[in-house]
Amino acid sequence: MARLDAVRLAELLSADAAGFAPVFAQAGQTCQQVFGDTVKIRALLEFSNYCRRKCRYCGLNCTNTQLVRFRLTPDEIVNTAVQAAQAGYQTVVLQSGEDPYFTPEILGDITKQIKTACPNLAITLSCGEFPATVYQFFKDCGADRYLLKHETADPDIYAALHPDSSLAQRLQCLRDIHAAGLETGGGFMVGLPGQTLQTIAEDLLLLAQIPCDMAGIGPFLPHPDTPLGSLPHGSVLLTLRAVALARLLLPHANLPVTTALGVLDRTLADKVFCCGGNVIMQKVTPPSLRKLYQIYPADFTADTITEGRSKIEARLKALGKIPL
Ligand code: 5AD
Repeated sequence: MARLDAVRLAELLSADAAGFAPVFAQAGQTCQQVFGDTVKIRALLEFSNYCRRKCRYCGLNCTNTQLVRFRLTPDEIVNTAVQAAQAGYQTVVLQSGEDPYFTPEILGDITKQIKTACPNLAITLSCGEFPATVYQFFKDCGADRYLLKHETADPDIYAALHPDSSLAQRLQCLRDIHAAGLETGGGFMVGLPGQTLQTIAEDLLLLAQIPCDMAGIGPFLPHPDTPLGSLPHGSVLLTLRAVALARLLLPHANLPVTTALGVLDRTLADKVFCCGGNVIMQKVTPPSLRKLYQIYPADFTADTITEGRSKIEARLKALGKIPL
């Protein structure tokens, strides 16, 4: 395939179905060569929905007074992570809003405790922006990976959506995460207001430039209690195309089939496993709290950790995949 610069990427994103078909095919082949039929299942533990930020698309933003807030105790977080390991998960993702209660010291201590109890469990943190020294500290405490999506590569769209942050600061954090030796997870949303195919092309190139070891690409979903609540959701097809192109740009990256994509269309979302995606997340958050981690509106099951694990394994096997 010709060199994928921004112009070529935007051209491909706007191609008709026949024009894009070779990209899906090549992304599927690349994924097959790198990962075979395997799909990695990550345990997602959402441990606090408190957030000091005002991101205009996100239901957790601090101006949303409709949301009942919760936080797990450090002991509950460690115990849940241990249960996830016992249920067969090889990675736990600890995710929260930017909750000032969870200082770097507390997060580092939780990480150490989990590593001591489960040395083979990989730990991914996803708790927002910190100074470079803190990412290094997380690494020293035993964290393996860090997720922090760049959300959009357009500095103006970024500024309009994040009243208290900038794209430059976000990218600095991503570079700091990478420099700390943590596997670096970026990503962006498809369908944000003002976004064009050129923006998505730049989003894709940015993933390669950081460089990202993982990238979550998902459609924007309007949350009714946010300023963007009345906008249309992002396109599933465009998201699938973006994931396929990300696979070509980053052959070895872990690319999840994002939960947001599954919310819009489970069957289409499963197609991502044939055209680039090799990871899926499964919630291990205590069932009664799942509905409160409402980044965007979605339905959640009350499955226990083991039930959730067996169901997702069965779903992947039905697709001909080998769950890891
Ligand atoms: N629609 C889709 N994705 C969203 N996120 C936050 N709010 C929304 C929304 N309304 C995504 C962001 C964030 C991740 C935790 O969830 O990409 O990084």
